[in-house]
Amino acid sequence: MQGVAHIDSTEEEERIFALRVRVAGSKTAVLPAIEGLSLMELLRANDVPIVAECGGAAVCASCHVRIAARWLDQLPPVGDEEAARLDDIPTAGDDSRLACQIRMTADLDGLELELQSDSIKS
Ligand code: FES
Repeated sequence: MQGVAHIDSTEEEERIFALRVRVAGSKTAVLPAIEGLSLMELLRANDVPIVAECGGAAVCASCHVRIAARWLDQLPPVGDEEAARLDDIPTAGDDSRLACQIRMTADLDGLELELQSDSIKS
């Protein structure tokens, strides 16, 4: 059909988004991200030294990140398990989240976060 754009759904391209990440006070790095993976998985895939001992099961609380204030309202709400683990972190604040409990979406393109010192591999 002339004049109508054709989208071939069998050849969907994976869109690359960005995460702006600081590792406890270091300079901000812009890292590539794709939809569907958790922030923890994306940090690992980009060689950020996150502990994440339990691999994303929300039991270890060693994937502690702080989210820039302007992004907080755009994240999914904190679930019961995540809230319980955050309560176990003495330094956690209102901007704290567990990176394994947040899935990357297009709405989070450009998300700014800081990996906290309690969750950095030594
Ligand atoms: S990786 Fe263990 S709570 Fe997130």
